[in-house]
Amino acid sequence: MSGTSLDGIDAVLVGFYPIEVQLISQHFIPFDTDLKQAILSLHTPAHNELHQTQLIANTLAERYALAVKALLAQTQYHPKQIRAIGCHGQTIRHCPEHGYTVQIGNSSLLAELTGITVVSDFRSKDIAAGGQGAPLVPAFHDKVLRHPDWHRIIVNIGGISNLTHLAPGINTSGFDCGPGNILMDAWCMQHLNKPYDENGDWAATGNVLPCLLDKMLTEAFFALPPPKSSGRDLFNMAWLNDKLTGKEHAEDVQASLLELTCVTIAHAIIQQYSGVQEVYLCGGGAHNLTLRKRLAELLPECIIQTTGELGVNGDFLEAIAFAWLAQQNLHHRPANLPRVTGARHPCILGAVYYA
Ligand SMILES: Nc1ncnc2c1ncn2[C@@H]1O[C@H](COP(=O)(O)OP(=O)(O)O)[C@@H](O)[C@H]1O
Ligand SMILES: [Mg+2]
Repeated sequence: MSGTSLDGIDAVLVGFYPIEVQLISQHFIPFDTDLKQAILSLHTPAHNELHQTQLIANTLAERYALAVKALLAQTQYHPKQIRAIGCHGQTIRHCPEHGYTVQIGNSSLLAELTGITVVSDFRSKDIAAGGQGAPLVPAFHDKVLRHPDWHRIIVNIGGISNLTHLAPGINTSGFDCGPGNILMDAWCMQHLNKPYDENGDWAATGNVLPCLLDKMLTEAFFALPPPKSSGRDLFNMAWLNDKLTGKEHAEDVQASLLELTCVTIAHAIIQQYSGVQEVYLCGGGAHNLTLRKRLAELLPECIIQTTGELGVNGDFLEAIAFAWLAQQNLHHRPANLPRVTGARHPCILGAVYYA
């Protein structure tokens, strides 16, 4: 899994048993600055972008293969014992409104380099069936994080935030609710030359700017009813710059961006669902202590914890979900939740590249 944040590659070795999903091993490889910049450049139209895209897709496949090899080296497993790699790929465009989404990473090359069958391109079939192609993780949350008595929400705070609603006797639902870390990371890079604001410490030194926050909250995406999904196509520095006067203190903008992430998550929960008892956080944003503290203030009725409390490491939950999606594909089982993505029907997701 390599997500919108462009922090790096989360690799997991997962065993699927009739009643259990077992995380056997995990490994993270960060993206270096050059690769991150190269991927970022693909998000906007540029000269000779087809050629550039394919070259970066090859580089990504090489890095994914390194992650797989490092992961297996930590275990006793040989590539021949691995049924498949579920490879999300790197999103460079997500445009369900135009009928497409693009995740790159040369899957043929990855299969060749690892000797393991690869399943990838998980989102396109859902979009072909009229859906958003995202979020796809709620189906997996439904499988492993449901409780017969408790009314809970899982919030994955990656580059974008998405949430999953799990309530007794009610069909699982979920949607992307807005920017997670994406804007905070970009602002932090621009002003502190750091990839992210560790623990939200910098944001905690600033004051929320009500005018800026209000302007950001007028974004039409926030008022759209689900199903909905988003990405860098919408939430990017151009989007933010458009709302700045240029006179703000940088730390106040960071505080306002953190507030935006928290308010949009809290509003999404309050407006869509009532009676939520527990909120479990996962994704890198769950490490942001300032963000967690603020979310707890905005959702006083809920217990706020991380999925670690449920025995699932929140840093690798999405990667585990994509291993499961690959398994669903190989068993020819549909894996999208039409009520989440808006697809007309359940679909078998992904394309297979044999070893
Ligand atoms: N200690 C931390 N404090 C604050 N933010 C963090 C911390 N650790 C990770 N993050 C945030 O999490 C992001 C990575 O989250 P991740 O779940 O991998 O997102 P994605 O799926 O988009 O790649 C980082 O870019 C950073 O913004
Ligand atoms: Mg990541």
